[in-house]
Amino acid sequence: MTHPGSTATTPQTPEPDDRAALDGVRADARWWREAVVYQVYVRSFADANGDGVGDLAGVRDRLPYLRDLGVDALWFNPWYPSPLADWGYDIADYRSIDPAFGTLEEAEQLIAEASALGIRTIVDIVPNHVSDQHPWFRSALASPPGSPERERFWFRSGTGPDGELPPNGWQSIFGGPAWTRTDDAGVPGEWYLHLFAPEQPDLNWTHPDVWAEHEDVLRFWFDRGAAGVRIDSAALLVKDPRLDIYRRWRTIADGYPEPRVLVGEVWLPDADRLARYLRPDELHTAFNFDFLSCPWEPGPMRASIESALAAHSPVDAPTTWVLSNHDVTRPVTRYGRTDTSFSFESKRAGTPTDLERGTRAARAAALLAMALPGSMYIYQGEELGLPEVEDIPAERRQDPMWHRSGGVDPGRDGCRIPLPWGGERPPYGFSPEGADPPWLDQPDDWERLTVAAQSESATSMLALYRTGLRLRRAAPWSGDGALQWIPSSESVVAFARGERFTCIVNFGPEPVALPAGADVLIASNELEGGELPRDTTVWLRQANGHENKIG
Ligand code: GLC
Repeated sequence: MTHPGSTATTPQTPEPDDRAALDGVRADARWWREAVVYQVYVRSFADANGDGVGDLAGVRDRLPYLRDLGVDALWFNPWYPSPLADWGYDIADYRSIDPAFGTLEEAEQLIAEASALGIRTIVDIVPNHVSDQHPWFRSALASPPGSPERERFWFRSGTGPDGELPPNGWQSIFGGPAWTRTDDAGVPGEWYLHLFAPEQPDLNWTHPDVWAEHEDVLRFWFDRGAAGVRIDSAALLVKDPRLDIYRRWRTIADGYPEPRVLVGEVWLPDADRLARYLRPDELHTAFNFDFLSCPWEPGPMRASIESALAAHSPVDAPTTWVLSNHDVTRPVTRYGRTDTSFSFESKRAGTPTDLERGTRAARAAALLAMALPGSMYIYQGEELGLPEVEDIPAERRQDPMWHRSGGVDPGRDGCRIPLPWGGERPPYGFSPEGADPPWLDQPDDWERLTVAAQSESATSMLALYRTGLRLRRAAPWSGDGALQWIPSSESVVAFARGERFTCIVNFGPEPVALPAGADVLIASNELEGGELPRDTTVWLRQANGHENKIG
């Protein structure tokens, strides 16, 4: 299929220098299919220079922590210069690093150091929109209606007698209209489209410059050793269905000695539509938001797993298992509520939660996700069982989702609180002694949740993640590890992988007897009299010759 930019942007053969295959990382075209990818929200990971904002030096210091956790790759939320209208998802320059985080040179060092520890790097690309401070948008605003500078965006005349109404009734995903009127030399002028905040003008993907620019940005990061990109809002670019963007990107990605990976952020309501993005010449993989949003109940969980596997198999894409990210409520909080599902629409401040119950379920969910075939994503702090912070005072809230909804939507600050590393009080080792306060306040009662405190305890969430990931890495399933359901009562989800590996989750109040002749590899909570209690997952290794029967 051709597109408007096909002559201007013919993919070039990349340089053979393949930095993804540095030192500790052996080139492997299929590494991503079963990888554990850890999401780093740099701003809240670790602050080395004491300004209260996490930075690349902080991540570099903590790489041994990530190696010991047992992850295969890091995905960095946008680390580019940004006016922070949407905390980095409004990018002013796609080829450098926000000075608050460090420099491009440091990013290159970080990629190389991670690689030396056997960890690949995935960078975040935001193709749907730029910052209103991006040079393209600034020159569009400085140019008259109908100018070529404006054609890279969606500028339109308004409706109504003097054009004072937006071109149509589209609403922004962050609330309010998706159109903002410009001020053309002091006179109200055209409107421009922004599916998110007004500071995030949408790009016009029918324009060849937009294609060429993003293809160049991909090469820029791939040439610096990035093993792949996470594509923000990947399903929103195409306002025109004839475009075929990801096939072009796939050609670029596949041109490297170790092919680079395209990971899509595709929020779509059904697994079949999602799988259409994952055909062999399009994206490699995409986040499984159905699983992330699924209530902690056996029927919906089984159905979500089943439909994800069924939809991915015909396109030969691995399924991903995701429990959280920087946009959604932390699992220990969500699973402790009466309604344990996630949706942006129903998210409301002040919903009660039982953190003890939620933590128990989150532990069981983590072991379930680790046992499923495919890759897994872990959002920083999930391995510590951090709760959503819900009592942030209005004047300390930062997220546009909170501001643009007039506070109806609690926003996403609560899952972005700086990580607690050690010590008894804020900043819990996030920043050095004497530093500025963190950009979002940490609660006063997190001393038991720090990395240091959890490293001392064999039963902590961190210990569970470390042990679970270590066992997973040894692939305790045999053969191709395909999943077979094991018949069980309605309150149990049980499956085998290969001849001898079994994973059982009990959601119900009645303890479940384990099959005879099995060794327990790991359980998310203590067994009770040898039986599996409520909200607990167990991994078993069957002795040869024993059938998988759940009592
Ligand atoms: C994605 C990001 C989110 C951001 C939005 C707009 O959904 O995950 O954080 O606000 O895109 O770029």
